[in-house]
Amino acid sequence: MPDLVRRLPDANAVARAAAEIIVADARAALADRGRFSLVLSGGSTPKLLYTLLASEHAASLDWSKVDVYFGDERCVAPDHPDSNFRMAGAAMLAALPVAVHRIPAELGPRVAAQIYCGVLPGASPMFDVVLLGMGADGHTASLFPGHDFAADRGYQVTPATAPPGFAVPDRVSLTRDALGSSRRVLALITGKDKAARLAEVLRERASGIPTFPMSRIRPEGVEFLIDEAAATP
Ligand code: 6PG
Repeated sequence: MPDLVRRLPDANAVARAAAEIIVADARAALADRGRFSLVLSGGSTPKLLYTLLASEHAASLDWSKVDVYFGDERCVAPDHPDSNFRMAGAAMLAALPVAVHRIPAELGPRVAAQIYCGVLPGASPMFDVVLLGMGADGHTASLFPGHDFAADRGYQVTPATAPPGFAVPDRVSLTRDALGSSRRVLALITGKDKAARLAEVLRERASGIPTFPMSRIRPEGVEFLIDEAAATP
């Protein structure tokens, strides 16, 4: 299945569209299987989405039947300003009765990766919706350019390293295989600073010749929700 790219006017419209997709998928999953699993991405882009889910959609479904996982985490305490858990907690998790499956990244990359591997669902696909962001360098989750994708083949969680210039070098990340093991993979990408790399990634994905980490996720199709700024290289 090829990628689906939806251009929306701005970041708010991207967040609203993502919220509608997630709520619709959650309602269907609860009706079919009684549970819904959602993998959160970090960074700043998804904050709008998380706030919407916790406010306008707080009564849209029974959130107590939702399992929330993380696509990656920085190796800091859960209350550290750079923690993805803390960001998502403030924007959403504190307001909704979801089951949170946090990456214990404060234990260090290797220990946390081993522990989190045992937390992930055993089903295939593992998740209902995986959320992804993308950096201007083409990274996603904490899979940065130069990541040894061959070494984590067959694994679900991997230690990772962010290059200089990024918050917190030591990371834990779901692997390319795990991030793709989902009924739906939604990439939310906004802002002019992402435009040039996004155009390259979309070309790479269409050609099947990936060089950037974002190009390697799930060859059978990712849904890109992008704003006009990110759509205009
Ligand atoms: C992280 C994220 C990361 C993020 C991108 C985009 O832990 O930093 O998981 O992959 O999605 O860096 O971040 P922004 O949304 O802040 O541009």
